[in-house]
Amino acid sequence: MFTSVEQVREALAGEGYVADERLATTVFLQTRLDKPLLIEGPAGVGKTELAKVLAAATGRRLLRLQCYEGQDETKALYEWDYGKQLLYTQILREKIGQLVADATDLDEAVERIGTQESVFFSDRFLAPRPLLEAVRSDEPVVLLIDEIDRADEALEAVLLELLGEYQVSVPELGTFTANHAPYVILTSNNTRDLAAALKRRCLHLFLDYPAAERELQIVQSKNTGLSDALATQLVEVVRGLRELELRKAPSISETIDWARTLAVLGVADLSAQVLSDTVSVVVKYDKDVRKALDALPRLVDPNATVSEHKHNHHDHGHHHDHDHPHGHDHDHDHGDDGRAARLAKDKPGRFTDGYYGTPKRSETATLGRRRAL
Ligand SMILES: Nc1ncnc2c1ncn2[C@@H]1O[C@H](COP(=O)(O)OP(=O)(O)OP(=O)(O)O)[C@@H](O)[C@H]1O
Ligand SMILES: [Mg+2]
Repeated sequence: MFTSVEQVREALAGEGYVADERLATTVFLQTRLDKPLLIEGPAGVGKTELAKVLAAATGRRLLRLQCYEGQDETKALYEWDYGKQLLYTQILREKIGQLVADATDLDEAVERIGTQESVFFSDRFLAPRPLLEAVRSDEPVVLLIDEIDRADEALEAVLLELLGEYQVSVPELGTFTANHAPYVILTSNNTRDLAAALKRRCLHLFLDYPAAERELQIVQSKNTGLSDALATQLVEVVRGLRELELRKAPSISETIDWARTLAVLGVADLSAQVLSDTVSVVVKYDKDVRKALDALPRLVDPNATVSEHKHNHHDHGHHHDHDHPHGHDHDHDHGDDGRAARLAKDKPGRFTDGYYGTPKRSETATLGRRRAL
């Protein structure tokens, strides 16, 4: 049991997870209030990882329910082991035969079998799935319900009893209640809204891309082999790429991969050239790659003036000069100008449209996206 926020932070750090104050506080509260924790945020910011390290740090077993579209919500709790039931009836065929041997008609035979039914719907034939397993476990566990937003809403409804009372009802057997409240972590990529009833039962944490300092710490903690100076610079470049409104912004794991890649190549200083050559490690859509290649020279060296050539092929270039008399120099305005220009040009094909299960606004938008890819 944790006694302070600081202790949580240290425990997570001991497992290689860099937590800021807000995250450590939320985890501390979760463990003290016995409340489930719902973490929302973009891909690759350490949501799943948090559940894993919490299990490691507390010595608890990790049970994981990976959610997916079309999942049968009833099977998330438990199943009846049909194969085993069948096997037993085969083996017991004679015994069952005896039971109904002197029945005068079918009705009576069915009646007699019916009185024995509970044998086949007993603990012996119950196959617990992660949710029931978490509740029935003798030892305290961490239960990870990963990517809940991918599953249908029916699963959320099934979860309510578990999240509110740490219990699961099996009609044939009764209600199981957890001896030790599991630490439950739910994650969501925010592809759809979750039910208010579900949110109400959970502590909520929005995990975003980390501050530069924390991301650097994370990269350093992974022993990528890249020097601290280059890692610092690299983190800034990645943060710049995230500003670009890409279809898929680079995640922490991609920063880590990029650092490893550059270390393997023995890079001594970060040039736009070497970053361009390896940019596919962090951006994975053709259109994103083009945007990234465009931006890299500026991101590596904010003092580099944008070449005349670039202004020419962005038709919006000269408009900005009127709006901002100081022109396209190295200050932060530049990124915003760029963003506005891109938004203006880039209507169809945003990843919010039809991406990752969100409803498609129109067929044309979908076609636009395909063409863009
Ligand atoms: N705070 C952190 N400390 C240490 N490593 C981290 C941290 N955050 C992220 N990472 C690294 O990033 C990787 C990706 O994190 P994780 O798989 O948990 O992302 P996620 O948020 O679950 O993403 P997705 O939504 O795609 O499942 C982890 O394997 C870990 O190496
Ligand atoms: Mg995950």
